[in-house]
Amino acid sequence: MSPVEEGAAAPRLVVPPTAWPMRWLRLISDGLTYGPPSAVVNFFTSSPRPVDPETVWRTFTRPYPRFLQAVIDHYPPPRRRERLIAQMLAQPHAGGIEYHYDLSNEFYRLFLDKTFMFYSCADFLKADDTLEQAQLNKANHILSLIDPKPGEAILELGCGWGSMLRHIHAHAGDLKSLSGYTLSHEQKRYIEENFGFNVMLEDFVTTDLGEERYDKIYSIGALEHVRPNEIPELAKKVYAALKPGGRAVHHFFSLNGNDPHATSMVTAQLFFPGSILSLHSHHLAAAREAGFTLTHDSEHDYRPTLRAWFDNLVANRERAHQLVGVQQTNKYLAFFATSWAFFNLKEATLHRLVLVKG
Ligand SMILES: C[S@@+](CC[C@H](N)C(=O)[O-])C[C@H]1O[C@@H](n2cnc3c(N)ncnc32)[C@H](O)[C@@H]1O
Repeated sequence: MSPVEEGAAAPRLVVPPTAWPMRWLRLISDGLTYGPPSAVVNFFTSSPRPVDPETVWRTFTRPYPRFLQAVIDHYPPPRRRERLIAQMLAQPHAGGIEYHYDLSNEFYRLFLDKTFMFYSCADFLKADDTLEQAQLNKANHILSLIDPKPGEAILELGCGWGSMLRHIHAHAGDLKSLSGYTLSHEQKRYIEENFGFNVMLEDFVTTDLGEERYDKIYSIGALEHVRPNEIPELAKKVYAALKPGGRAVHHFFSLNGNDPHATSMVTAQLFFPGSILSLHSHHLAAAREAGFTLTHDSEHDYRPTLRAWFDNLVANRERAHQLVGVQQTNKYLAFFATSWAFFNLKEATLHRLVLVKG
């Protein structure tokens, strides 16, 4: 596990298995320190026994009385929120990514789609679409936005388990012109062993992307990990790394509204330590200032994907317990349910952007 667990003053990220009444006492103290959603996630996670999935789902996704929702939205107060988030952002990027993604490839395989292993929002276009069909729908839409041509140099920022690189390769690419960045050792190993793309284990925020090197640069579910102060610089780097007329395609979710330290960002630290979302307006301004022209901005619904992952994990719980333990499994069930509520309350929206270098 990553060093982030040892951070002195940072919110506690791993919850030791605890029996009643310690869990209840902790529920209260976490609630006072981090707010109700973080406290409830920790409460479920710390159960020494598998949690009841229906209880977890209902707890996070049901509508709350107005007063309780107001507490969830405003507690901890802004100054404390900022401080808690600042503590988490003091750690290096890579530690937080490893913490989340280097859990176990086999564990992720238990709930992601069987075809691609996409760990990002799918497009459920019909009521009876399976997760596999929905991820194919998404891959086809992003393919049409990237519009890859044979021989083009194409780079993915945050390539996961190589899902989209495979789809591009099947349609247009030659292996050597496709490359990707990840910070997960497990993902890099998986891609190299299975597909042979050029995967770089480097931080795409800090690494040099070069000048006019790529025809297309895209990201799927990776800008969520880029901190607000890094977004403008990254937009400029991507712009510089594209050839004239090149395009960037980004699929990511961003905060609606104007509060960059929303209470949900405190809870998010339990799952993605050291990452914080940006406001959508901030993404658009950074792209514009870098010189890009925005030619496409579509919105997509993350909720059906989260429900599908939740159901798949429930169906494969025994194996999940063997691979990562009861607590991590409890935690992922809470993660999917609380994320569903996050999108349902429209705190964030999933966007796909096409940005063209003029
Ligand atoms: C949510 S996953 C999405 C993976 C893949 N694009 C997909 O759709 O399945 C985020 C990916 O971004 C990578 N990532 C996040 N921040 C990164 C950074 N600063 N440098 C390199 N990779 C990063 C993670 O390692 C992971 O592969």
